[in-house]
Amino acid sequence: MGNITFTMIKPCAVSEEHTGEILSLINKDGFHFVAMKMLHISKSQAEKFYAVHSERPFYKDLVEFMSSGPIVAAILQKENAVVEFRKLIGNTNPAQADEGTIRKLFAKSVQENAVHGSDSDENAEIEASFFFSQIERFYK
Ligand code: CMP
Repeated sequence: MGNITFTMIKPCAVSEEHTGEILSLINKDGFHFVAMKMLHISKSQAEKFYAVHSERPFYKDLVEFMSSGPIVAAILQKENAVVEFRKLIGNTNPAQADEGTIRKLFAKSVQENAVHGSDSDENAEIEASFFFSQIERFYK
């Protein structure tokens, strides 16, 4: 079981000033911040990050959205981090997310769903490496 996951607070949640509250919920759930940065990704960076979805009908809109404003990217550490974080954020579609989850609280739609969370240990490392080098990581 891996102990890191990767997250982004998406442009919708950053622009609506939910960053502090979301980071606090993550911290209170027992995650350690290994790395964190705020940045505005380009369209081509968003295309690369979400390349796995390039055949999906929502890909173009997703790329536009993710490059529309600043995001907060972070690596999080906790035992069984990928699974635990997906529980904390809730279903991709906020209409199906459980009460108290980050997406239930802050997501506006299936696309503007406030936060990203890796879906496997392998992808967590790939996604973390997209944004952070080894010397930018501070493990517990
Ligand atoms: P995320 O967890 O970042 O992974 C892929 C993203 O694609 C997802 O969150 C949503 O923002 C977006 N997405 C997934 N499914 C759909 C959909 N059916 N319509 C629009 N956007 C989607």
